[in-house]
Order: sequence, then structure tokens, then C-alpha cells
Amino acid sequence: MALLYYSGTDKDGVFERRFRDALKTLSPSLDVRTWPDVGDAKEIRFAALWLPPEGLFDALPNLTHIFALSAGVDRLLKAADLPADVPIYRLEDGGMSTPMSEYVLMGVLHAHRQMHVLADAQAAKQWKRDAAEPAAADWHVGILGAGVLSSAAAERLVMNGYKVSTWSRTEKHLNGVKSYFGPDQLSTFCGTLNTLVCLLPLTPDTTGLLNAEFFNQLPEGTSLINAARGEHCVDDDVITALNDGRLSSAMLDVFHEEPLPPTHPFWTHPKVIITPHNAAPTAGNIAAQQVAKNVADALAGRELAGFVDRNKGY
Ligand code: NAP
Ligand code: GLV
Repeated sequence: MALLYYSGTDKDGVFERRFRDALKTLSPSLDVRTWPDVGDAKEIRFAALWLPPEGLFDALPNLTHIFALSAGVDRLLKAADLPADVPIYRLEDGGMSTPMSEYVLMGVLHAHRQMHVLADAQAAKQWKRDAAEPAAADWHVGILGAGVLSSAAAERLVMNGYKVSTWSRTEKHLNGVKSYFGPDQLSTFCGTLNTLVCLLPLTPDTTGLLNAEFFNQLPEGTSLINAARGEHCVDDDVITALNDGRLSSAMLDVFHEEPLPPTHPFWTHPKVIITPHNAAPTAGNIAAQQVAKNVADALAGRELAGFVDRNKGY
């Protein structure tokens, strides 16, 4: 019995080494192969993947489980040869909760402590001591999403004294966090925010959600953090909202096209901070632990973690 591994971004093989080493310890009898060296493809029952190339699934006739080496499965679900009847499991946390919480906290601190205003002042050699810096308790952060990563980020912000709300499909009960849910509560959620964080999965319902109509529901001068997927944003509307002051700044980790093309206006916009889709990298050893546990559970006929509901899209 074999597992096929593939990562579309692990160019230096570091993730693969960590993943293989951890799997060797946790699941020594599992034969791990790396695409395109499938060997006898009939022996492959499991696939652990990030951004699989076209044709990979067509080459695996006996696949029983697909493990996404990611939290988001939007690209996997678009694979043309994705088998309809093989269940998909995604990483829940996968070592990403801590770095994602740090990233969100960094963005909130940057906005709350007016770092963009102070950077402009520094460029003009101005000693600017009048930038408005309210107390954290008066800085309202709204997180789109209340799942694995968004809950971890919310918890970290609460620990740092911020006022935090989340918006999800279903109601949540997180300590110190106000829960809004469903489309009807979205405009109330938006009404009093200082910083908006997007940590939604990319689905047909959430694609293009961050558009002009959405931004117009936010208070003037809201800062934006998007660490989910580029396609949540309508880029032209982000630029317009930054230029007319609806948005005070944007920290963006994800883009429609990655790497972000050199001609994209985000690169040079003075109110935009760009990071290269590294808000929360998957940890190879932790991903391997989760995959190994799922393989063991599959072989023992137990329920697996991280089941993806293809109808919901996440
Ligand atoms: P998750 O646990 O599945 O959480 C998703 C949350 O979004 C849930 O609370 C869900 O609501 C909510 N949601 C989904 N569709 C919605 C809708 N139409 N309306 C309102 N709420 C909706 O996902 P996660 O593990 O936290 O990951 C979130 C995303 O982060 C991933 O999909 C990926 O795109 C992104 N990500 C980015 C990086 C990076 O480095 N930039 C790293 C990892 C992940 P319910 O709870 O009610 O279902
Ligand atoms: C990364 O973006 C992930 O979805 O895990």
C-alpha cells in the first residue's frame, strides 16, 4: 500500500524531507512515493497534495483518500481530473494557527498604532506625536470566518486586549468574542470595525465578497487584512477604497495571481503592505502527523479528521 506525495511550491524539497521523515517514524510501513515517480500506480491508495498538476488523479486508479496539504481546498476542488467519489480531507491547523495568529496580530498592531502614518512622517522627517492611537479595548477587529485559523487569531487578539467580533455561516461561542452569522448580520458586523480581517475559505459564496458594496458598509478609515485568498478581493475596488479613504491601509498576503505580477498596482501603492503568501506556512512535520493519523484511522475503519464537504466548498 502506498501514498503519493506532491507539492507544487516545495521547490527546495525541505517540506518533503520533513514530511517524509515524520511519516517514516509515525507510519513506517507506508510506502511513500513522490509524483511523477508513481511506480505501480495500482498500489497507491492515498494522495497527500498541494497544487497537484493536471493528470495526476487520472493516473491513480485505486485512490481511496485525498489529503490536502493545506487548510484551503479551493484549487484542489477545481482540478479537472479530481475523482468525484474519493473523499477529501484538509489540514485542520497543520501548524498554521500560531503563525496566522501572529500575522493577524502584526497587522492589527500596525494599523492600531498608526504605523503607516508614522512611516509617512518619518519620510518627511516629521516628529509626529499626534497620531490617534486609541486603547486596544477601543479598537474593534472583525474577522470574516470563525473556523480553525480565525478562532486562533481571535483568541490571540482578545489576549492582547482588542475588541473582537467574528462572522461565520453558523453561530459561534468563543470566549470574549461577539459572534455574527449569516448574510443578514453582515452589515451590522461591519458597522463599527476599525480593522477587517478576511480568513474565509474561497467558495462560490465568498468569491469577490470584498468589493465596493462591501467596503461601503465599513466605517471610513477601516484597515484591511486579507490572508485568505486573493479572489476574495475585487482588486480595483480595494484600490478605489484606499484612494478615497474608506480603507486606511491594506495588508495583503494572497493574490489573484501568485507571485503577484510586477505590474500590479498593489506593489507601489503607499497604503499597501504585501507579503508573499507566507502568513501561515504549513509545517511539514505537523502535516505528516495529521496525515499519518488519518491513514491509521482509515485502515482501522475509524472516522478521519478534516473532511471536506464538497457542496459547501470547504
Ligand atoms: P475553516 O476552519 O474551514 O473556517 C472557515 C470559516 O469560514 C468557518 O467559520 C465558516 O463558517 C466560515 N465561512 C465559510 N463560508 C462562509 C460564508 N459563506 N459566510 C460566512 N462564513 C463562512 O478554515 P480555516 O482552516 O480557518 O482556513 C481558512 C482559510 O484560510 C483557508 O480556506 C485558506 O484559504 C486560508 N489560509 C491562508 C493561509 C496563508 O498563509 N495565507 C494559510 C492557511 C489558510 P462555519 O464555521 O459556520 O462553517
Ligand atoms: C494555504 O494557503 C492553505 O490554504 O493552507
